[in-house]
Amino acid sequence: MPDRESNPFRFGDLALDHFFTDRKAELAELTADIRNGQNVVIFAPRRFGKSSLMWRAAQQLVSDGSVLVAQVDLMKAPTKERLAEKLAAAIYEEIASPLFKLREQAAAVFRGLRVLPTMIVGIDGSVSFSFAAGQASAAIDATLERLLELPAQLAAERERRVALVFDEFQEIMRIDPGLIGLMRAVFQEQPEVAHVYLGSRRHMIEQVFNDENEPFWRSAKQLDLGPIPAEPFAEYIGDAFRRTGRGISVPTLTRLLELTSLHPYGTQELAYSLWEATPAGRAAGEPELDVALTQVLRSENAHFSRIWERASRVQRLLLEALARAPGGAPQGAAYRRDHGLPGPSTVQKALAALLQDELVGNGPGGPRITEPFLAEWILRRGM
Ligand SMILES: Nc1ncnc2c1ncn2[C@@H]1O[C@H](COP(=O)(O)OP(=O)(O)O)[C@@H](O)[C@H]1O
Ligand SMILES: [Mg+2]
Repeated sequence: MPDRESNPFRFGDLALDHFFTDRKAELAELTADIRNGQNVVIFAPRRFGKSSLMWRAAQQLVSDGSVLVAQVDLMKAPTKERLAEKLAAAIYEEIASPLFKLREQAAAVFRGLRVLPTMIVGIDGSVSFSFAAGQASAAIDATLERLLELPAQLAAERERRVALVFDEFQEIMRIDPGLIGLMRAVFQEQPEVAHVYLGSRRHMIEQVFNDENEPFWRSAKQLDLGPIPAEPFAEYIGDAFRRTGRGISVPTLTRLLELTSLHPYGTQELAYSLWEATPAGRAAGEPELDVALTQVLRSENAHFSRIWERASRVQRLLLEALARAPGGAPQGAAYRRDHGLPGPSTVQKALAALLQDELVGNGPGGPRITEPFLAEWILRRGM
C-alpha cells in the first residue's frame, strides 16, 4: 500500500499489485487456459495492459504452485543470440530454480547445449546468461531449438506444468524470419505446455500469423483485450483518491474517463496528473482536471509533434476531422464535404495508414482517434 502522500497511479511500467485493477474475467480465463496447457494469443494495441495481465496471471499460477511460467520479451531480444540468452535466463529463473534446490543442479539443465552460455551472477544474486558473439548460425539454431525443448522436458521429468510466454511476439520476424518455423516444429511436440503470445492483432496478423503460419496459431485460443470497463475503473480511481486523503467529484471522474476513452495507460496518466493537481484533504473537480489535462498534453507534446510531422497532408486533414467529428464515414461525400477532405480513394489511403500506425481504430460508430489525448492535442492546437 502506498502512503497517503505518494501518488497512487502509475503509467509506463507494468501495473502490479494495487496499481492493477479489474480484468477479473480475463484473468480467470487466462489462468484456467494455462493450467490446461491451452495455447493462447493475447491481442491488444500498445499500452492496453497485455503484459500487466500476463504478469498478474503468472503471479497467481506461480504462487498457488500450479504452473511454472517462463516469460521472454522479444523487444529485448534483437538477435538470435540475445533471444537464446533471454530464454536461458527465463528457463533458469522460472523453471529450473524452482525445480532444483541447488544452483549447480539448476545450471546443469543447460549441459547438452551446442553452444554453452556463460552464467553471470550479479551482486544482488540475479542471474544472466551470455553467448559469445560470432557463433555459427547453425550452432545458434541448434542451441535455440534445445532451449525451446527444455521447458517441456523438465516439466515431464519433474511432473510439473509449465508455460512459455512470448511478449511482443510480432518482433519474431525481425529477429529472424526462420525462427517461426523452428518454433512451430518444436512446439507441435509439446501439447502439454501452454504457449502464450502477446502482441497487437494488426501487427501479428500482418507479420506473423499469415496463411503460411496458420497451422502454428490455429491451435491457439484468441483473447482480445479491450479497455477496462468504466464502472470498475471509476471505482478504482475513486478508491485511490480516498485512500490517499483526497476526493474526486462524480462528474469529474466521468469526464476523466470520457477524455481517455478508458484507455488503461491514458487513464492512469491523466489520473496521476489529476492527483498531483489536487491538494491533500480536497476533492478534484473541473478546474483540477483542466490543469491535469494541460499538464499531460504538455508532457506528451514532443510525442504528438513527432506524429504530426510524420503525417502526410491528407492524414493531417483526416486527423483534424476525426478529432472534431469521431466516427461516421470519412470516405462518404457528406463527411468529406463537411471537413474539406479530398477524394474517397485518397482519404481511404490516409485512413489505412493511420489504422496501420494504430493512431486510429475502427469502433462500432466508425473510425476514431485511439491514441490517448491526440484528439485533444489537435483540437487545442488549432485554437
Ligand atoms: N489492469 C490494469 N489496471 C490498471 N492500469 C493498467 C492495467 N493494465 C494496464 N494498465 C496501465 O497501462 C499501462 C501499460 O500496461 P502494459 O501492461 O505495459 O500494456 P501493454 O503490455 O499492452 O503495452 C500500465 O503502466 C498501467 O498504467
Ligand atoms: Mg507490454
